[in-house]
Amino acid sequence: MSKSVIILGIESSCDDTSASIIQDGKILSNVIGNQKVHEKYGGVVPELASRAHLQNIIPVVHQAIKESGIDKSEISAVGFTRGPGLLGSLLVGVSFAKSFALANDIPLIDVNHMQGHILAHFIKDKDGNGNPPQFPFLCLTVSGGHTQIVKVNDILDFELIGETIDDAAGEAFDKSAKLLGLPYPGGPLIDKYAKEGNPTAFTFGIPKVDKLNYSFSGLKTSILYFIKKQSKENPNFIAENRNDICASIQHSIINILMKKLVKASEETSITQIAIAGGVSANSGLRQRLTEMEKSHGWSTYIPPFSYCTDNAGMIAITAYFKFLKNEFSDQSVTAKARMAVQTNSIHKNFG
Ligand code: KG4
Ligand code: ZN
Repeated sequence: MSKSVIILGIESSCDDTSASIIQDGKILSNVIGNQKVHEKYGGVVPELASRAHLQNIIPVVHQAIKESGIDKSEISAVGFTRGPGLLGSLLVGVSFAKSFALANDIPLIDVNHMQGHILAHFIKDKDGNGNPPQFPFLCLTVSGGHTQIVKVNDILDFELIGETIDDAAGEAFDKSAKLLGLPYPGGPLIDKYAKEGNPTAFTFGIPKVDKLNYSFSGLKTSILYFIKKQSKENPNFIAENRNDICASIQHSIINILMKKLVKASEETSITQIAIAGGVSANSGLRQRLTEMEKSHGWSTYIPPFSYCTDNAGMIAITAYFKFLKNEFSDQSVTAKARMAVQTNSIHKNFG
């Protein structure tokens, strides 16, 4: 039997410091250090994020190795997020991974964060169970920084077929929440209050955008004007209607997302449909996607909550597949703030 492959994955692209151990595709640990420091600023402050990563990275990696039950000397390779993300945040993870690889004389594997979100579907649990989509499949990747429809032809073969031309879906959630006076990140709170509200209480327009692309900036503006107008007539409007407003905002965002996803499925004749990224934790979106199985004959794939928002498990699994293909990076690799989902950097074999 061939030797098992053990990957240490590192994620530091935004405000979560995370480390994970994956052995032959099975997850042994996935530790996430959240940064509370941004809450009072209503959004991620890049400089504070980098500093917090520096503080968190060693304890988080230590914890991930400890929880996995493996010994540090057994790690086959270290995978890290190269981009896209905040440069200062990425640099902490990149520098750590390079040093770790050098010190332990193991290969270094750079990972595209957006590919990681998608390949989270291929993580197996400790017992080796998983439910991955079959190729080719479509993935709606919805996070705080991205909204994309990606055609996944094979494990490391990605084709971007649609994306937002302005705000991301997560931003639409967070900025709407801010208008309602909710703390950052507001997405999960809108989700929570929406459960108690009427999704058709208020209506907001659906933007007209070309092809399979999205736009969310118009929605944000129409919510802003709506809230202003209503609050002028009734200063307690938000407090009295919070649940209905949240349900209506969520309903609008989901309608926008689903409309183009349906179009993408029709145009490509692909009915294997997955969602990924932080917004895929949204209960309304998860429910709507599941309903599409019956109404549209789709096979749908929804990641467990722990793999939706940023985590190193998704980075480790992507690095694992690159390891199997001998795709390693050298010590000159650096962070990249902007990076298309198709990008797999130039690699060379280790040793
Ligand atoms: O993937 P992610 O953790 O980080 C990025 O790469 O951006 O996504 C974070 C985004 C935030 O905008 C957050 O509000 C949103 O995901 N989010 C949600 C929910 N959970 C996280 N949005 C709506 N409903 C949720 N339950
Ligand atoms: Zn992300």
